[in-house]
Amino acid sequence: MKTILDGCKDMGYVKWLGHSAFEIVLDNKKILVDPWLTNPLSPVKPEDYKDVDFIVVTHDHGDHLGDALTILKRTNAKFIGIYELAQYMIENGISEERSIGGNIGGPIKINGIKFILTQATHSSNRGAPTGVVIKGEEATIYHAGDTGLFYDMALIGELYKPDIALLPIGGHFTMGPYEAAKAVELIKPKVVIPMHYKTFPVIGGSPEEFLNYVKEKKLDVKVVVLKPGEKYEF
Ligand code: NI
Ligand code: MN
Repeated sequence: MKTILDGCKDMGYVKWLGHSAFEIVLDNKKILVDPWLTNPLSPVKPEDYKDVDFIVVTHDHGDHLGDALTILKRTNAKFIGIYELAQYMIENGISEERSIGGNIGGPIKINGIKFILTQATHSSNRGAPTGVVIKGEEATIYHAGDTGLFYDMALIGELYKPDIALLPIGGHFTMGPYEAAKAVELIKPKVVIPMHYKTFPVIGGSPEEFLNYVKEKKLDVKVVVLKPGEKYEF
């Protein structure tokens, strides 16, 4: 049962937990995206989370699926992701009621928040890889997941007008700084927060390079570089 204290969460924010993992508070709901909380840069542990409303996983690579199942088992959070990944959660003991599978492009409406799984040009073992647009009253946030650049990012920008875009910039497996700057041009968010860089040497794209490309393009966007554990409030 929810107590009054549970309803008094902080103002809305996006907190970076290293790699592609984020803690988001939107419309008083706590959402974890790609909760690989045992990543080398993580300031938190899976056990730190007792009160979570939603867990979204963009695809089943270990650095995104991460500790999702552990946290689902310890909390009453609902899982949201591509159908096949939701089935995997059910096979691993999460109830059907709590494991909500959808598919790309179909808005999932739940507790006043809309989750729209988006295309991601990447690979995965269970279902297709995705990004996610999370649309609440306070803000619209686009987490691109792992992806290369694709032109339909412009459509995501046009349809959902994200206030905040969380974009991978590390290269090798995803966009690097050069491609991510083009993504900003297509999506046109107000704020962009880089992710999925420098966790390992191979994903070496840096926020400085990214910032330079964004400046070169004279884009009207605020680049917010977070340290693990830091939050951007909205
Ligand atoms: Ni991946
Ligand atoms: Mn990844």
